[in-house]
Amino acid sequence: MIVVVTLEELRRETARLARPLGFVPTMGYLHAGHISLVERARRECASVAVSIFVNPTQFGPNEDLDKYPRDLPRDLALLEAAGADLVWTPTPEVMYPPGFQTWVTVEKLTAPLEGAQRPGHFRGVTTVVAKLFNAVGPQKAYFGQKDAQQAAVIRRMTKDLDFPIEIVVCPTVREPDGLAMSSRNTYLNAEERKAATVLFRALSAAKEAYERGERDAEALRGVMRAVIQAEPLARLQYVSCADYDTLEELDRVEGKALLSMAVFIGKTRLIDNFVLGA
Ligand code: PAJ
Repeated sequence: MIVVVTLEELRRETARLARPLGFVPTMGYLHAGHISLVERARRECASVAVSIFVNPTQFGPNEDLDKYPRDLPRDLALLEAAGADLVWTPTPEVMYPPGFQTWVTVEKLTAPLEGAQRPGHFRGVTTVVAKLFNAVGPQKAYFGQKDAQQAAVIRRMTKDLDFPIEIVVCPTVREPDGLAMSSRNTYLNAEERKAATVLFRALSAAKEAYERGERDAEALRGVMRAVIQAEPLARLQYVSCADYDTLEELDRVEGKALLSMAVFIGKTRLIDNFVLGA
């Protein structure tokens, strides 16, 4: 496994990799969710590249950029074991040299949900992913369903900017009790960790109501709210029952829908989602 930092090294080394090349962008502190993307890429591609970059432009001023967890030696060991061929660990200076002033924005899809709560977040994500795509030049790129809106926004950007890259969205990997794996779970103390299953419990309750025939979107949102409000350590930021493709809030669930939510457990903000009608 080759580890590179500069753009020059990256270009030299990716030119030698067998095609199709699969690419997995990450912010590091890897867990089984990230590794599932690398393993899928390994199965589907002749070579696999991974980036590790805690992207400052996608963090808001009051978010956790400075305390975002990092452990490069451990990440590299996990990636080597998962069969990655190349890891790119650019510095902020490599990604954003002095004078940087060009941004990629996706408009309507970034307005609701995470975009409404985290102004500028998706501008940072789409800009860095466009730069990563240009630098790595993969044939396929792998994203997690855990960040459903991010996956939708990246799909849109890839189409709109004619990147010759197939976007593959992979299932959310969960802990045995249902909590979606996330680097941010490490912020939770033991009591909060137990309470954090409330997202999965709320989504499961809404899915059960849907399976019993409930199609009223507000009723499904109400089921999720009730479960979250019953958990003393949880503070609800939003619940949504939206059209899977446009992310617009629904009145009735007819086709494919996305149930999603953001919940604070103590100071830690967690997100999760289920797809209905898939
Ligand atoms: P990060 O949060 O490190 O996630 C990297 C990839 O792993 C994303 O595609 C994310 O959806 C996926 N992932 C995270 N948790 C997962 C889980 N439990 N199951 C399956 N996949 C999971 O998302 C980012 O980084 C950044 O925004 C990035 C795209 C790298 C741009 O900076």
